[in-house]
Amino acid sequence: MDAQELDLAGLRRVYGRAGSRWFYTRVARNARHWGWTEPGQSKWRLWRAQRQLEDVLGRKLALPAGSRVLDAGCGAGAVARAMATRFGLLVSGVDVLDFHLAEARRLSARARLAHRTAFFWGDYHRLPFGDGEFDGAYSMETLVHSYDPPRALAELHRVLRPGGRLVLLGPMSTAALSELPSPARALLEPYLDAMVMTGARLYHARNLPRLLVEAGFEVEEALDATPYYAPTTEAVHAYFRLPWELLRRFGDPAKWLNLRSTVEMYDVREFVAWYVHTAVKPPG
Ligand SMILES: C[S@@+](CC[C@H](N)C(=O)[O-])C[C@H]1O[C@@H](n2cnc3c(N)ncnc32)[C@H](O)[C@@H]1O
Repeated sequence: MDAQELDLAGLRRVYGRAGSRWFYTRVARNARHWGWTEPGQSKWRLWRAQRQLEDVLGRKLALPAGSRVLDAGCGAGAVARAMATRFGLLVSGVDVLDFHLAEARRLSARARLAHRTAFFWGDYHRLPFGDGEFDGAYSMETLVHSYDPPRALAELHRVLRPGGRLVLLGPMSTAALSELPSPARALLEPYLDAMVMTGARLYHARNLPRLLVEAGFEVEEALDATPYYAPTTEAVHAYFRLPWELLRRFGDPAKWLNLRSTVEMYDVREFVAWYVHTAVKPPG
């Protein structure tokens, strides 16, 4: 794996354009993540699915109230606030986008959660924290942007105390890109490039458990949760396909990169798996 550098300009392009910000703020209500739907539930209730995914994270962290937890790639802090209110955790979020951090601080202050959530500028490949400061850490759909996944995992390992717990949630290709059929690669690669999903080129469903072990973790569970995520993929495509087509034809598609991403994810769904990895830094 070639070590690269943070592509801040690329991330600003993905998350900072007016259309993307409007979409995430108004439509997704500040949560920049997919959703979890139980069998038998309606796929149309996207906000409920997002809340349920946050609950899955809290249950996998399985930490007592008052535990210190790192949110790697916190966005506007929706997940941090969910962990603080529903699981009593004390959350420190890091992100590299100043406008996400400003939103996170503003929304936490408004929710009277400033004492249980704090937000810092930080790249999760070089965290601004000391060794062993946290009881837990998580990445909610952020490792896909990693320019050096082994280094990111080593940093997460460093800041956890012995016995500390890590939960990684997010999409990845079902196998190394080189092993996918060429038509699949032709669909997937431009999408990954447009979205600065560098990490998704470097890890995949088959090698992430090994990378966790190489970083010093014991893997407790590698859950292929694709069936729980698939209803969100279906619903998002149905809701947003037409608006995206209209914007693409009559507007400026570059302004709506995230809307494009949510729609185009559908075309590559066969090659995308959604995983929840739970790992532990061995005690002592
Ligand atoms: C899909 S959003 C998820 C945000 C949040 N976890 C949520 O679920 O609402 C990905 C976030 O990761 C952040 N990010 C990307 N690379 C990062 C890095 N190297 N260090 C810290 N944050 C990063 C982005 O700025 C963005 O806010």
